[in-house]
Amino acid sequence: MKKEPIIELSHVTKIYGEYEKSVIALNDVSLKIFPKEFIAVTGPSGSGKSTLLHCMGLLDRPTEGKIFIEGRDVSRISGKDIAVLRGKKIGFVFQSHNLIPRLTVIENVILPGLIAGRKRVELEKKAIELLREVGIEHRAKHRGAHLSGGEQQRVAIARALINDPIIVLADEPTGALDTESSKEIMDLLEEMNKNRGVTVVFVSHDPEIARYGRRRIELVDGSVTYDGVNR
Ligand SMILES: Nc1ncnc2c1ncn2[C@@H]1O[C@H](COP(=O)(O)OP(=O)(O)O)[C@@H](O)[C@H]1O
Ligand SMILES: [Mg+2]
Repeated sequence: MKKEPIIELSHVTKIYGEYEKSVIALNDVSLKIFPKEFIAVTGPSGSGKSTLLHCMGLLDRPTEGKIFIEGRDVSRISGKDIAVLRGKKIGFVFQSHNLIPRLTVIENVILPGLIAGRKRVELEKKAIELLREVGIEHRAKHRGAHLSGGEQQRVAIARALINDPIIVLADEPTGALDTESSKEIMDLLEEMNKNRGVTVVFVSHDPEIARYGRRRIELVDGSVTYDGVNR
């Protein structure tokens, strides 16, 4: 039996701005993401990596083309329903400013669950379990602002997983970290991919970090120039 893609982009083009000021950030990109993949998105600055993640993650709509989430065409879904779908199916980790500084670690982790309408008690139990997995359970009651960059990214990973998403999208997750913490965060993402079976797509312009991907998608000027086994 052939596996069905969890996310499919079909001829996706994203243009920012209008007329002579317009920028083609993605140019006719088609690709499929399958369950349990671990994918690095690489390419020079300005090549469309973040735009690709935003479109995949339903944070932004393509100008042209279609996006399918588990086979369902999301192009025609209303903004409100998109937000609900995104909350349930997709977890995000960004480069920085990930946490709400005045909230505690556990409050940050459960937030996407509260937004999805789940019960606090159930969420807190799940959050503790996730915080244990990312090795930061002892910080559960600390405020986000008081953590190191590496610790914040651990919390961000726990938060990304709170709703059991089908995919975690990470845009330069190690971009603000030193080499040692970067390795730890990538090892953790890899572990979550292996143990939890969650698909991970991450962006990095750092070749050492990009090596973690089993598949690599390379973008240049908004077009896919390589998509295959990461060598
Ligand atoms: N909100 C925006 N408005 C206008 N142009 C944008 C916007 N976001 C990105 N761009 C442009 O689109 C191109 C791709 O950007 P981006 O996806 O951020 O690339 P990368 O993440 O690979 O650095 C760049 O030329 C960038 O300047
Ligand atoms: Mg970017």
